[in-house]
Amino acid sequence: MEVRVGLIGYKFMGKAHSNAWGQVNRFFKTGARAVMRAVCGRDENAVRGFAENWGWQSVETDWRRLVSRPDIDVVDIATPNDSHAMIAIEAARQGKAILCEKPLARSLKEALTMLAAVRKYKVANMVWHNYRRIPALQLCRRIVKEGRLGIIRHIRAVYLQDWIQDPKFPLVWRLKGDIAGSGAHGDINAHILDATRFITGSEPVEVCAHFETFIKERPVGAMTGGLGAKAGRGKGRVTVDDAVIALARMSNGAIATYEASRFANGRKNGWGFEINGSKGSIKFEFERMNELQFYDASDPAHLRGFRRILVTEPGQHEYISAWWPPGHIIGYEHTFTNQVADFLTGYLAKKPLSPDFLDNTRNQAALEAMAVSSQKRRWVRVQRVN
Ligand SMILES: NC(=O)c1ccc[n+]([C@@H]2O[C@H](COP(=O)([O-])OP(=O)(O)OC[C@H]3O[C@@H](n4cnc5c(N)ncnc54)[C@H](O)[C@@H]3O)[C@@H](O)[C@H]2O)c1
Repeated sequence: MEVRVGLIGYKFMGKAHSNAWGQVNRFFKTGARAVMRAVCGRDENAVRGFAENWGWQSVETDWRRLVSRPDIDVVDIATPNDSHAMIAIEAARQGKAILCEKPLARSLKEALTMLAAVRKYKVANMVWHNYRRIPALQLCRRIVKEGRLGIIRHIRAVYLQDWIQDPKFPLVWRLKGDIAGSGAHGDINAHILDATRFITGSEPVEVCAHFETFIKERPVGAMTGGLGAKAGRGKGRVTVDDAVIALARMSNGAIATYEASRFANGRKNGWGFEINGSKGSIKFEFERMNELQFYDASDPAHLRGFRRILVTEPGQHEYISAWWPPGHIIGYEHTFTNQVADFLTGYLAKKPLSPDFLDNTRNQAALEAMAVSSQKRRWVRVQRVN
């Protein structure tokens, strides 16, 4: 079966997604063949060049045209956050399956409208939380499910970057509240929140957070997404958080801390977590993404300690057979290909996709409660989403 894909947006995530769609048929046997039918961007010359380089068969300069094409089955949204809802809702109306980048939306309200649309039109839907597809994270989830950590007491997660450290760095879309919704919070706190929810199967019930914006004004910038953006003339107000710290009480009884910053000098994309339970602990660092640290308190006393597991063995996770022999590690881009493979398998079998809009609206509900908590300076209960 052919699954014809239309991608919207062709910069950072556009590249990552194109690479995944291009790779997936070669490495995975899902029963479905991804066809890279069309890519959309507003600059025709640039998007043509992109299509040629990455193997897209045609181009569009208006996302509405792409979404309404009868030869597109799946709409892949890789644009800034302010366009996710309008594209996803129209794609649902047109009966297309949707793969949307995170954060799903700028607010819980917006996410709920997207969830309502995919439910109304009964279309397959998934959010690009590609980090769920890191083999070590899949193994963490299995370790928790098998009860090897016992009762989970602590979840401790950080996501640290430093790319806007320089006050002269321009006001790109990620620093504008009307486009991005929030700053480090929706961009990277969203990831660690999703990762820990995925692994532990527990939800934040009540949260308390503090958001900080260290640099309140920046040179007006070109509308590119991130690093390498050029400053223009004049200054504009930063309307998102630069950093966030949050506490959460989880549905499984654990207490959790989340910290996300774009001002952690020296940290480029340093994210990770530690989870402590009554029987053991796990530790993960993205910059060593093929490894997992596991502590088993039932080991004999003289052997007790964190052990390093290289997560490339057959049987440790579901992706191994698609890639390389044990010890031949994989990287960032593989997480996207793994996700696309899961999408194709689920789409073909008409099975729920993970995370779908419902699952991710729950993530958004926790993000929203943290934002409200920071504004109101108090603990806030997370809205339940069903
Ligand atoms: N999953 C991840 O790990 C991850 C990583 C980075 C970014 N993201 C998310 O991906 C999305 C895109 O981020 P990015 O870093 O690729 O941004 P970017 O600025 O690098 O690229 C955005 C692209 O969208 C295009 N675009 C903007 N408005 C458009 C419109 N109306 N019609 C058509 N094209 C339009 C731009 O021209 C550009 O090609 C964001 O939601 C971001 O949060 C996710």
